[in-house]
Parts: sequence; structure tokens; C-alpha cells
Amino acid sequence: MNDLFEKQNITVLAIESSCDETACAIVKDGRQVLSSVIATQIEIHRRFGGVVPEIASRNHTLAIESVVKEAMSRAAVSKDDVDAIAVTYGAGLLGALLVGVNFAKGLAYAWGKPLFGISHIKGHIAANYIDSALEPPYLCLLASGGHTAVVKVEDYERLTLLAESRDDAAGEAFDKVARVLGLPYPGGPEIEKLAREGKPVFDIPKVKNTGEPYFSYSGVKTFVINLVHKLEQKGEVIPKADIAASFQQAAVDQLVDMTQLLSKRTGVKKLAVAGGVSANSLLRSRFDDMKKCGCEVFYPQLRYCTDNAAMIGAAAYFLIKSGADESPLSLDAKATVGIQ
Ligand code: KG4
Ligand code: ZN
Repeated sequence: MNDLFEKQNITVLAIESSCDETACAIVKDGRQVLSSVIATQIEIHRRFGGVVPEIASRNHTLAIESVVKEAMSRAAVSKDDVDAIAVTYGAGLLGALLVGVNFAKGLAYAWGKPLFGISHIKGHIAANYIDSALEPPYLCLLASGGHTAVVKVEDYERLTLLAESRDDAAGEAFDKVARVLGLPYPGGPEIEKLAREGKPVFDIPKVKNTGEPYFSYSGVKTFVINLVHKLEQKGEVIPKADIAASFQQAAVDQLVDMTQLLSKRTGVKKLAVAGGVSANSLLRSRFDDMKKCGCEVFYPQLRYCTDNAAMIGAAAYFLIKSGADESPLSLDAKATVGIQ
């Protein structure tokens, strides 16, 4: 049991550094963001076509102190106003995570505040609580660069995995297909933009229906790679916009179909979406369509879909309120974590 469990108002300083964003946010009572600062490294990694872990860690080290100061200044809080320090401890790039974890440990020790290690996955899901009245139970489709899953959020701390990807994550497939089409990193927003100029004329095969709930993106990705290679060999112009539209439709269909199936199987009609791919407007409009069947649908605000620290602060509040123990100062970073 932590000491803040019964406290009325809780202000969390949260840090996120799992990939290529150095972020800090000040979050009150899990749903109100007082400030959210994100120093993105996208431009740095773009020339390599993806995130280079060592470069990411070095840039986190350079950015973290000023990002934390900026978040405190924008929220107009001092260390005395902060009740707890939260930090993403996994999943992510180990070297990148270590920068945030060690900085958070230093703050917790120096300021005498409790430390809470937060799972990045739970953070993405908790982005749905910000400025929202969403409460469990509900089903959450998590679709990011590292994960694709449907999770039953039974209560704030009890999560059950209902389906996950057997190979690539949805965001990863967006990034890989974008690369094949010569689009810059990160591919998701680029594919979405290009798809608006095209039509989904290519019939991309669906995953085999085995009755088992799972996602798979390797087939979709390979189909696009082979299609582009064949057209190149024939010396034909690559219809990039049509390929982007076809891929996006296939990728989104899979996410929507599986969520719909699991909603029917479980009888849970309250749905939420999380992770970078939840910024996709086709995905959102397809989820909106589910409202016609009596589903309630929740999305994070666009700025909280991709990596940020506000979602970590939100998740930390509900962890604190569950009565969980604070994390020891020996908290370690982990490249992979389970859904819990
Ligand atoms: O959640 P996130 O920021 O990082 C991870 O935890 O992985 O997700 C990043 C992923 C990238 O693969 C990116 O291409 C994808 O989310 N993404 C999108 C969109 N915006 C970001 N995918 C499709 N459509 C988008 N609008
Ligand atoms: Zn993420």
C-alpha cells in the first residue's frame, strides 16, 4: 500500500522516454493535464528510415532536464506541489528507457517523493481517461508501433489480453509499407495522407479465419512488397496512392473486425482505442460506425495517441488509487513487459 492512496488530490510528474520522444507531463487526478511537453527526435531519425536506439538514448540524455523543467514551468508547479514521480519502465528501447528511469529515480530520491514505474502499454490505454469520463469495464484496441492487441480492461488495474499480433504490430506494418513506397518515417501519418489521393483498388488478402482471435500483419506487408517489386520489374509506374489506400483499408479492416468480433463474444459494448495508430482517421470513422450497433466509443485526443508523458501520469494516478506499493529505487528498465 502506498502513502498517497487516501489523499484527495494527487499531482504526478510523469516521464516517458521509451522510444524517440523525450516527454514530461504534470497530471492532476489522472484526468487533468496541467502540462505536457514532448521533445521529438523524429527529424533526427528520419534520415535513417527508423529509430536508431543509440542515437535515441543520447538525445534523451541531452533533452530530459530541460523537458522536465519546461513541464513544471508550464504547469506552474514546484517540487512541493508534486506528490509522486511516475516513469515508463518498459516496454521500449532499453537504453532509451534507462534515461527516463534514472532521471525519475534521481528526482524521487532528491525530492523525497514516491516513485511509480508504469508500463507503456497501460499508459497508452490510460490516454483515454484524459479529459474524459471513461471508466472500466471496456474493451481497448491497442495499436502502436510495438503492440497490436485487444485488451479487456476489467478495472483500472485488471487487464486481460484477448488477442494480439502473431508477427508485426499494426504501426510497424504502416512504417514498413511506407518505406517500400519511399515515404519518410514515421509511415502511419504519411500513408494516411497519401491514401486520401488514392482508391483501395488492390485486393489485399485477409488473415485466415481460424476462429482464434489474433492479428497478423506479415501477409499484408509482404503482399505490398511483392506488388511493388512486380510493378518495378515490369517498368510500370507505381500507383503509390492506390497502394497506400489499399493497405490502409486492409490494416484498418483487420483492427476493426477483430474488435467487433471480441465485442460480440464478450458482450462488452464500451470500446476504446489507443496507441499511435489510433490517430488514424479511417480507423476512427470505422469505430464511429460501430456506434450504430449500440457501441459506445472512446478515443484519446490526437496529441495523446502517440508517445507522451501525460498518459503515463494518468496511468500512475489509477495505480496509486488501487493501493499498489510504490516502486523501489532499484526499479529497472525492461525491454518487454506483459499486458499487466
Ligand atoms: O504509440 P506510438 O507513438 O509508439 C509506440 O509505442 O510504438 O506509435 C507509433 C506508431 C508508428 O508506427 C506510426 O507510424 C503509427 O503509430 N501512427 C499511425 C498514425 N500516426 C502514427 N499509423 C496510422 N495512421 C496514423 N495517423
Ligand atoms: Zn507508444
